[in-house]
Formats: sequence, C-alpha cells, structure tokens
Amino acid sequence: MKEVKIETTLQVYDDIHELPKALQDLMRTAIEARENAYAPYSKFNVGAAILLDNDSVVIGSNQENACFPSGLCAERTAIYYAGAKYPNAKILKMAITASSQNQVTDKPIPPCGACRQAIAEYEIKQEQPIEIYFMGAQGKVIKSNSLANLLPLLFESSVL
Ligand code: THU
Repeated sequence: MKEVKIETTLQVYDDIHELPKALQDLMRTAIEARENAYAPYSKFNVGAAILLDNDSVVIGSNQENACFPSGLCAERTAIYYAGAKYPNAKILKMAITASSQNQVTDKPIPPCGACRQAIAEYEIKQEQPIEIYFMGAQGKVIKSNSLANLLPLLFESSVL
C-alpha cells in the first residue's frame, strides 16, 4: 500500500472588486442571471455566466421542478446552452454565484459534483482549461484555473 496525496491550488479574492474588470463584468452577469432562478422549493438561487472564445456570454440559472430530480443546476443549464448554441466555441471562463432566500450567503459556493463532471466533459473536449470563479451573494470569490483542480479522479471516456 502506498498513500497518494492530491493537492489543489486555488486563488481567493477578498470580494468581487478585487477581480480584474472583465471578470467583475462576467460575475455581475451571473448575478443578474441568478435573479431569474426558478427555485420555489429550495429557495436557493444560483446564477452562472460563461465567456466563450467568440466573445459571446451565455447564462444559466437553476430551474427546479415539483418532481425534484427533474430540476437542473445553473451551471449545467448554462454549459448545455453554450454547447447547444455554439458547439464549436471554446469555453474560457465560468462565473457562478449563489444566494439563499433564507440566510446571508457570504461564503463562496462551489459547483456541485454533477456540475463538475458536466463541465469537465467540455474541458476535455476542447483540450483547454476552463477558469471557474465562484462566490456566494457577497464576500470572497474563489478562482480555479481549471475544472480539473476541482474534480480529481474524474470519470473519463477513455475507460468506456
Ligand atoms: N444548485 C445549483 O444550481 N448549482 C449547484 O452547483 C448546486 C445546487 C441548485 C440546485 C437546486 O435548485 C438548488 O441549488 C438547491 O440545491
């Protein structure tokens, strides 16, 4: 037996104002998208904004359903929209923000495991890392230079 250590490096910004201007804009677009979340059950609104290499910005927000598993997270709504609308464009950056209707969300909210797997698919397909930025409703913003940093030991198509 030998032990394997997996390390990740992330960048932590004090708040949105510390981000470069273009990233502040992308995060503000995600905040706007968050307003259109349909989250009557969880009362937890999430918004995502994706910047593509054709300069387009694609957004998503979580869309819930009375049959809970039929709902979809903001990140997958956005990335599937990007894949459907611009199948040949590369995804450069994704900004994510979440806000509970019940409490102050002042901690960065990372994408769930299923969304990490979905984003990883596009990162592998385009052979170029996707920068991920995530925050709550306020406070710190965490940046990962690549989705791969957030999902060690991911499931890959090479095993199929
Ligand atoms: N949600 C997202 O949109 N993204 C995530 O990464 C985690 C959770 C949504 C799903 C559901 O509508 C609500 O937040 C509570 O789980």
